[in-house]
Parts: sequence; C-alpha cells; structure tokens
Amino acid sequence: MNLDTISSQDIILTGDRTTGQLHLGHYVGSLRNRVILQERCAQFLLLADAQALTDNMGNYLKVRDNVLQVALDYLAVGIDPAKSTIFIQSLVPELTELASYYLNLVTVARLERNPTIKDEIKQRGYERDIPAGFLTYPAAQAADITAFKATIVPVGDDQIPMIEQTNEIVRRFNASVDQPVLVETRAVVPEVGSRLPGIDGKAKMSKSLGNTITLSASPDDIRQAVKMMYTDPTHLRVADPGQVEGNVVFTYLDAFHPDRELVQGLKDHYRRGGLGDTVIKKHLEDCLQEMLAPIRARREHYAQDPSAVLEMLKTGTRRARDVAARTLSEVKAAMGLNYY
Ligand code: TRP
Repeated sequence: MNLDTISSQDIILTGDRTTGQLHLGHYVGSLRNRVILQERCAQFLLLADAQALTDNMGNYLKVRDNVLQVALDYLAVGIDPAKSTIFIQSLVPELTELASYYLNLVTVARLERNPTIKDEIKQRGYERDIPAGFLTYPAAQAADITAFKATIVPVGDDQIPMIEQTNEIVRRFNASVDQPVLVETRAVVPEVGSRLPGIDGKAKMSKSLGNTITLSASPDDIRQAVKMMYTDPTHLRVADPGQVEGNVVFTYLDAFHPDRELVQGLKDHYRRGGLGDTVIKKHLEDCLQEMLAPIRARREHYAQDPSAVLEMLKTGTRRARDVAARTLSEVKAAMGLNYY
C-alpha cells in the first residue's frame, strides 16, 4: 500500500460486517492501515450490521451481538474514537434511502456479474434463490461510501469490485443530474499479504472455514493454532530442504515479524535443510503472542464497560448521521425532490 498518496484532504470510509469477531486476516488486510490513517485524515468506520443481515436474517441476534464485538476489536487494535468516527449502519437510515435511489442506476445483470457477489453466492449455495437484499448490497455499500464523500476506502482485495461498482454509480448519478454531487473513491489495499491465508494453508482466513486466529485469541488458542499450522508437507526430516513458498509459517512471519533479517536467515536455512518446523513455529508463536497480548489486554479492558462503548458508538453514529443526511439532501435536491 502506498500511504504517501493519501493526504489530509482525503476522507476515509470503511467498515466490517458484524458477523463475527475480527481475526488476523482483518488485521493485515485493513485494521493496521486504519490505525495509521486515522492520524492523517478524517476516518469513518462502519459497523455493517444491516449488510450482515442480507444473508443472516435467521441469525439477527448474532449480528446484533457482534456490533459490540467488532467495536471492541477496533478499540483493541488502537482505533481511537477521538480520531475515528465509529458508527452503526442500521442507525443511519439515510444510507438506506440513498441506496434505494442507487438501485435505479444498476442492473440485475451487473449485480450478478460483481465478482465478490458471484463468489459469495457460490459459497452460500444460493443458486437462483438469492435474497434480493443480498444481491443488491453493492448499491448499499455505494451509499455507505458516497454518503461520506469518501475518497479512500482501505480494504482487503476482495472489496475492489465493490469500489468499482460504487464509482460506476457515482458517474451515472452525476451524469444523470448533470452536477458533480457525488465523489469517486479509491480502494487502498496493502501491497503484500492483503489476503492472509488460513492456518490450514487455504487461500483465505475466514470464520466459515474455521481456520482463523481471532484478535481475542487466548495464549493457548495461539499456541494450538501455530502447532496445527500448515508448513511444507514434503519436509519430513529436519535435514531435508524445505519449501518456503506456500508455507503458512513463513507467510505469517513475513506479515508479522518485525525482524526482517532474522526471517530472511530462517528462510535461507529452511531451504538449505537442517531447520525443523518446531523452530520456525517457535519464532512465529513468540511473535504472535507478543503482538496479540496488548491487543487482548485492551479488548478485555473495554469489554468490562460495555455501556461506555455504546456511548462512544452513540456519539459516532450521531456525527455520521449528520454527514449522511447532508449528502442525502444534496442528492434529493439534485433530482428535484426538494418540493418545499
Ligand atoms: N463489505 C464489507 C465486508 O464484507 C463491509 C462494508 C460495508 C464496507 N459497507 C462498506 C466496507 C463500505 C468498506 C466500505 O466486511
């Protein structure tokens, strides 16, 4: 990711579906960047409970409960509510209203071609029985982004199709009202490791695959996860040369270990042979324990006072709602829907 291209004039909007606690994949893909970017520009962080419901209506309590959990994850990694506006999507009805107009600017065929939607439909086995709200959530996401006139969206690479679709809507809207009311946006994706593999070596760390390390993982969870971690299945004896590419332990060392030289040395040694999995795993475990201990401690600290967290969300939501309401009235005025 090239942070240098982001200036204090930029406005950032990003968020997460509240379907579960956040994990190391989120940390690498976007949380780390948000902690840095909040120092530089205005940042809005959305707890996307309404989007989570598009495929979780049968699980609304899980979605509700995870609003607090994701907020705790944000605070735990160092997102500061004095610098970032954290808010609850369902409490900003202006977003839904905006989305309802945007739906007139996208076709069903285009939504069905959105690569992320396509993947998710396959994963969920919907075939043709797709909840309409699910199919159309890219329009809702366009509303989330444009309501804040966000110029930057720091996300993992799976969200790039959403940004492209948002910009199509922006251009179409501006063209149809012949005024530059909405602002185009840009995805900011970390260059390496924007998609952290699961501990099992599968392409993506994901709760549904059960291959995650959550930000609240206990020391024992971390130990177990590293122990089970996929390495090089052909590296049978310590003396054998081992593969570094596709070896999850090395992928994680690259993503998290602060000492690049040490990691390079381990890689060379592993490739030559004579370095066992237990040794590289020990380095990784130590590094993850050290990194996650303060995150877990902060999370526990905030978790002791949920009403203070809700109060923080209330303040953020009020602020976010003001901004979204302003954009909505500009949008409506541009369409002549300002009757009196
Ligand atoms: N789609 C994102 C996710 O899957 C959540 C989200 C909703 C979002 N609205 C957004 C992300 C706007 C960035 C910008 O977690």
